Amino acid sequence: MSTTAERNRRLLVRRRPVGLPVTEDFELVEVPIPKPHDRAILVRNHFCSLDPAIRGWLEDVPSYMPPIALNDPVRAITVGRVVTSRHPDFQTGDWVVGLNAIEDYSIAAPDAFLRIVDPAAVPSVTLYLSALGAVGVTAYFGVMEVCRPRPGETILINGAAGAVGSIVGQIARLKGCRTIGIAGGSVKCRRLTERYGFDAAIDYRGKSPSALSAALAAAAPEGVDIVFENVGGLLLDTALMHLKLHARVALCGLISEYNSTTGPVGARNLWQLIVKRATIQGLFTGDFLDRFAEAQTALAAWLDKGLLVVDEHIEEGIENAVPAFLRLFAGTNDGKLILRIA
Ligand SMILES: NC(=O)c1ccc[n+]([C@@H]2O[C@H](COP(=O)([O-])OP(=O)(O)OC[C@H]3O[C@@H](n4cnc5c(N)ncnc54)[C@H](OP(=O)(O)O)[C@@H]3O)[C@@H](O)[C@H]2O)c1
Repeated sequence: MSTTAERNRRLLVRRRPVGLPVTEDFELVEVPIPKPHDRAILVRNHFCSLDPAIRGWLEDVPSYMPPIALNDPVRAITVGRVVTSRHPDFQTGDWVVGLNAIEDYSIAAPDAFLRIVDPAAVPSVTLYLSALGAVGVTAYFGVMEVCRPRPGETILINGAAGAVGSIVGQIARLKGCRTIGIAGGSVKCRRLTERYGFDAAIDYRGKSPSALSAALAAAAPEGVDIVFENVGGLLLDTALMHLKLHARVALCGLISEYNSTTGPVGARNLWQLIVKRATIQGLFTGDFLDRFAEAQTALAAWLDKGLLVVDEHIEEGIENAVPAFLRLFAGTNDGKLILRIA
């Protein structure tokens, strides 16, 4: 497969989505390949990471970084190869990961995100977008710094079969926790126990709130010490009703609310934090950018020893970026969702 393109295809944001994004919110355009300015590099993007965070960046609301401006390309983490370098720290041919965009070519200048990576050190360079990328680092520091598990504790993970959740469960297990995962569908639940080693799995789909609560009570009769929250809404509310005394809730994401047209759903059972003297703490990968290497070393060692398994779901072609991205909200991604661009 050719890795060069004559022109630069870019996926632009044409309007702010209302609810679930639709194709018309975006436009794939072709423009000339840009030239890097002084102290910048031109990167040929090979793969980009399709993350739920992109949905947040499409909203014009205060966040940890500015929204994507209308008519700008969709921001995304990419892994690619330096085509032209005008920076002394980067050579033509280097592989880099950076916060770029869904486009064939990006101009990148050194910042907190841009890193040279070694494709020879991994079975696939996509690993720098999954286990050894932001996803793995989020899971690692989410467990180690926010959840702070102690052996014998029980952790509940909502969104457990996804990219972050599946790694969280495996790390927590390595740290001696009993792991309970909630995911959508029997196939994903089987994967939780048979592939990722969860002690118990609960399928939330088609369950009434009381049935979900009963399933959780059966899996954790004494409650849970830790909740790793990726979903929000009913799943978070249910989890809050099953906390043990002094439980910790790590708030990583609220994906069930990202396409809400009626505003945030909110947690209705926060009073349980009082009852259980529990804490809830937000988690943000960006806080750990200068500690990426620490997480990567631990994650790589677990991968090498076969103690950590990671699944990647790779979709093909920039022209399929929008339907591929929407898989995150339909739950039809089986592992870290990645788009092959080159
Ligand atoms: N705080 C941070 O720094 C940070 C960093 C990375 C990711 N995150 C967050 O972590 C979470 C997981 O991200 P990921 O990249 O690992 O994605 P992922 O879990 O691989 O994919 C998203 C999954 O979310 C589930 N989902 C989607 N809509 C849902 C709904 N309405 N109700 C229940 N489940 C729903 C689906 O799984 P099912 O089939 O099981 O429903 C889907 O497969 C997201 O909330 C994301 O925003 C936060």
